[in-house]
Amino acid sequence: MAIIEVRNLISGYGKLKVLFNVNLDVEEKGITVVVGPNGAGKTTLLNSIMGIATIYDGTIHYNGHKISELPTHKISKMGIAYLPQMGNVFADLTVNENLRLASYLLDKTEVRDRVDEVLSLFPVLEKFLNRRAGTLSGGERRMLAIAMALMRRPKVILLDEITTDLAPIIAKKVLRQVVDLRDKLGLTVLIVEQMAKIALELGNQAYLLVSGTIRYSGKAVELLNHPDFSELYLGIKKI
Ligand SMILES: Nc1ncnc2c1ncn2[C@@H]1O[C@H](COP(=O)(O)OP(=O)(O)OP(=O)(O)O)[C@@H](O)[C@H]1O
Ligand SMILES: [Mg+2]
Repeated sequence: MAIIEVRNLISGYGKLKVLFNVNLDVEEKGITVVVGPNGAGKTTLLNSIMGIATIYDGTIHYNGHKISELPTHKISKMGIAYLPQMGNVFADLTVNENLRLASYLLDKTEVRDRVDEVLSLFPVLEKFLNRRAGTLSGGERRMLAIAMALMRRPKVILLDEITTDLAPIIAKKVLRQVVDLRDKLGLTVLIVEQMAKIALELGNQAYLLVSGTIRYSGKAVELLNHPDFSELYLGIKKI
């Protein structure tokens, strides 16, 4: 079952249209991967779901509710967490402070429980609790950012390029953690990635976005093994 349904979406910023007639289903408890080159509109797709971009036409439903006219805070309250592409941890704050900040408005005991909960999912963070986030390695910082997004126990998590600038082996580790979270928490994941190969190996459904339009949708491994994948990826070949 699709927990998020994007239908005929045309969206962008101000007068600039970025996405054109995008249709996408995010399967509940699945890992849906959107790949595509720079500037294709991947971040804009996530911004559209979160109510950050301008929607000109089309609809977005979440759990059967239309969310495409709702403000961001309501969408986030409904259980969708967003891990933006840039600056998703506060470098000058400690790991512990970052986690606590991510859970503001929750009461004290709740915060304590949630910190324990995310530390059990990311035990590596425990020994860094009092270190400034800016001193963590790229991979550790990504783990912290995911842990922060989980502090509110979301049902769905939107991840924007969480492997950027990571060595392939670390990128794989971070993405495996995501698969693990899906298995352990029953989380639904929508992941947007430029490093297509690793994400496609782990994902279930995949979409290829080129110049604001969906060029392929289907099984992630099938996209990966598509004979025309590299041309499709670069947006040269039409199917
Ligand atoms: N806040 C904004 N205001 C105006 N235009 C924007 C804004 N954000 C992105 N754009 C434009 O929208 C287009 C798509 O950008 P988007 O960030 O969605 O691409 P992307 O696929 O995420 O690229 P990348 O792989 O580089 O992150 C680009 O032409 C970009 O310049
Ligand atoms: Mg982007």
